[in-house]
Amino acid sequence: MRVLLTGGAGYIGSHTALVLIERGHEVIVLDDFSNSSREAVRRVEELSGATVQIVEADLADRDAARSALADVAFDAVIHLAGLKAVGESVAQPTRYYRVNLDSTIVLLDVLRERSITNFIFSSSATVYGDPQYSPIDEAHPAGVGLTNPYGWSKFMNEQIVRDAQVAWPELGAVLLRYFNPVGAHPSGRIGEDPSGIPNNLMPFIAQVAVGKRERLSVFGDTYQTVDGTGVRDYIHVMDLAEGHVAALEHNTPGVSTYNLGSGIGSSVLEVVRAFETASGRPVPYAIEAPRSGDVAETVADPSLANTELEWRTTRDLAEACRDSWNWQSGNPAGYRA
Ligand code: WQD
Repeated sequence: MRVLLTGGAGYIGSHTALVLIERGHEVIVLDDFSNSSREAVRRVEELSGATVQIVEADLADRDAARSALADVAFDAVIHLAGLKAVGESVAQPTRYYRVNLDSTIVLLDVLRERSITNFIFSSSATVYGDPQYSPIDEAHPAGVGLTNPYGWSKFMNEQIVRDAQVAWPELGAVLLRYFNPVGAHPSGRIGEDPSGIPNNLMPFIAQVAVGKRERLSVFGDTYQTVDGTGVRDYIHVMDLAEGHVAALEHNTPGVSTYNLGSGIGSSVLEVVRAFETASGRPVPYAIEAPRSGDVAETVADPSLANTELEWRTTRDLAEACRDSWNWQSGNPAGYRA
């Protein structure tokens, strides 16, 4: 298929582009490069030997997006483009709602006009709020007690897609609720390249290990977990990318929702130790106060995706730490070398 991959120059996007190409699909990357680099797309071409068409556009700008796509043919869409920093979303709520919702609305209108019915949407486990039980399955309530505009925008986008499909029964939409993406392609040529201070745990740890940051702040050690620190379901980005391709290739009319996670929980300190083992470097840390909005534990029950998408994670935390270290140590300045 010819797949329009929005946000395809980003962390998840670049890895998904590579897997799509390896599975025989053609990729068109739509990105505004506000939080990503053309170099990532160039490296996907280097790794795959394929040419990747780039469409530079702000998807939330209806006129700009429509004119940029006017002469671009595609059969399916994987929609990853959006703003995703939880803390920033609290400070800039209207920007987050405008960008994240308008981009989805513009895209759905274009798809309907062109009768393109294969639509994969990047959602997030954050829509579950503070979990009532764990591991979390797709029947768990969503959109309850969310603590930030980023999370709300993901939940609202899911509702927009569900309502669009009711009005357009031919649409096949898959909502993929990511748990915690980590790691990098084993080549070390593409990876996570956060701008500024990393919000997420593993890229921050990687920057401590490489000497870019002095120490890790561990946000709380008094949770009801194995060692008091937060527990999350870390999924290797290559497993996540493969999950997108599985969703694309299994898509049928209707709306399907899947958790993409490993089903295994790891605490902050377990991740620190795993990274020290993988890198051979110390990761000094200090226990700080809990981060507002954090929950104790978020772990997936991925069994629905395992059966219906015939997909499961095959890479573990140790491999994710090795690949993350390989990327970080080989690209200390990310794509801005
Ligand atoms: C993981 C754990 C922190 C940083 C968020 C979004 C989610 C998705 C992934 C986009 C927690 C602890 C972290 C640090 C720490 N993003 N931590 N020190 O909050 O589970 O999920 O990112 O799709 O939607 O909500 O991920 O990596 O920020 O935190 O102690 O410097 O690490 O408290 O327990 P989170 P995270």
